[in-house]
Amino acid sequence: MGNKFRLGVLGSGKGSNFVAIADAIAAGKIPAEVAIVLSDVESAGILTRASERKIPAHFIPPGKFRTKLDEDAKRAFIGALQMVQVDLIVLAGFMRVLKGEFLRAFEGRIVNIHPSLLPSFPGLEAWKQALDHGVKLTGCTVHFVDAGVDSGAIIGQQAVPVLDHDTPEMLHHRIRAAEHELYPKCIAAIARGEISVVGRRVLGKKP
Ligand code: GAR
Repeated sequence: MGNKFRLGVLGSGKGSNFVAIADAIAAGKIPAEVAIVLSDVESAGILTRASERKIPAHFIPPGKFRTKLDEDAKRAFIGALQMVQVDLIVLAGFMRVLKGEFLRAFEGRIVNIHPSLLPSFPGLEAWKQALDHGVKLTGCTVHFVDAGVDSGAIIGQQAVPVLDHDTPEMLHHRIRAAEHELYPKCIAAIARGEISVVGRRVLGKKP
């Protein structure tokens, strides 16, 4: 299987973060390869974007719950990721909370991107939460995934100003652009072994 650092990317949406990561890999900015892309949404753009790049991409039915995977789905996701021996799981707009067995199977090896400056505005539509609250600065956060919701150790953050005329869509659009810069840099730092985790603090060469 070669000795490249192997990513398993999970997403539920259009896949713009996946594209930014794949482009950064192609440009030689991340010493890694995407081994597999998985989605809980059959029509998700991320699957199309991966197939276009000849990367194995699969829909796995999530089961009966709305916000998490059921036991069969969890086992199917874990099996698919273990089969291709991923080193890091990259959540790129994956809209279900990962729990229990999944976290144990890949402990300390799951990262997520969230569209706010955590710990402000965890959960859904964080850009809308920021706008509704009236903050003047928001942004995006890359963090390790733990058992909480958007609560793991923070790897990197990038700020985005909130402008007077912003709609939720305009603000999310600018946050996405920041995500596309930040996420590849954080993944590159992990792939190069440049960071270490001490308690909640992620130390080393990182964005
Ligand atoms: C991104 O903005 C990401 O931060 C957000 O979903 C979008 C996915 O976009 N994730 C969450 O809100 C997770 N709670 P993409 O499919 O174009 O990468």
